[in-house]
Amino acid sequence: MKRIGILTSGGDAPGMNAAIRAVTKTAIHHGLEVFGIRYGFAGLVAGDFIPLTTENVDHKISEGGTFLYSARYPEFAQEEVQQKGVEQLKKHGIDAVIVIGGDGSYHGALALTRHGVNSVGLPGTIDNDIPYTDYTIGFDSACRTAMDAIDKIRDTASSHHRVFVVNVMGRECGDIAMRVGVASGADAIVIPERPYDIKEIAETLKRGFADGKDHGIIVLAEGVMAADKFKDELLKYGDFDARANVLAHMQRGGSPTVTDRVNATKMGNYAVKLLLNGKGGLAVGIKNSELETHDILDLFDGKHHGDYALMDVNEEMTKY
Ligand code: F6P
Repeated sequence: MKRIGILTSGGDAPGMNAAIRAVTKTAIHHGLEVFGIRYGFAGLVAGDFIPLTTENVDHKISEGGTFLYSARYPEFAQEEVQQKGVEQLKKHGIDAVIVIGGDGSYHGALALTRHGVNSVGLPGTIDNDIPYTDYTIGFDSACRTAMDAIDKIRDTASSHHRVFVVNVMGRECGDIAMRVGVASGADAIVIPERPYDIKEIAETLKRGFADGKDHGIIVLAEGVMAADKFKDELLKYGDFDARANVLAHMQRGGSPTVTDRVNATKMGNYAVKLLLNGKGGLAVGIKNSELETHDILDLFDGKHHGDYALMDVNEEMTKY
């Protein structure tokens, strides 16, 4: 193996650049050449490749987004489209690929491996919804950004004695909501994985106001329902003043946290070593602080398990 490629796919996440840097520097350290594949699998098929050097990546560790750009490209599920991508790799002498992204990206990495190009997946998504890893690149930064935003929302909520229903990202996964909810001292956290009782949430808020609390914060995972709809439902059970707020894509931006930078660096470094050992079709994860690999196929059947104990901890903070 002489030359490897790297691409980012799906939604961008803070820390992706740190992972690209780690892959590039590790590969060069081991005498390999590295090509950045721009715009994910779409760029792979189009042959949009750029050589990466240590100079290219030197300042990238602190930058959000992905400087290789990203794209969602469902067309890569088609066999003939995959063949075109493989031809591009062969034309450029690229023997193996590292893919940073979420679930869809892993399907692409597996397809490449099946076509004879060893590929390894790194979990890159703010959603933290990937099986067999406690952690995905970007999750910690997104949580920090959302927490910072809610701290600001609390200032205005308190000034007007209002309730805010804050919608956070995560698709069908409640991990961002749980972590941010606890970190923001939310009155309630609502996630798709757990049942909830909206009347009970209204009672908690009313009790808070009766006890002298000057605001209420509900952290709502986007997979449950729209924030406006939730707020309207809530107002059926309480006569407080309420607003809905959707944090949306701001959660994907900004400089990565220490955790994201360090984990992205560890995983990028490890992925190159897997390729050097002739491995492919694997997904890298971090479980109990240890680097792990799993067959990508296992991921498709696996289920992500969030830290649901956070829900119980938060309930004990709010129900008295
Ligand atoms: O997967 C990351 C994510 O930000 C989700 O949390 C969100 O549901 C989705 O992507 C938004 O997608 P888009 O950027 O295509 O609007």
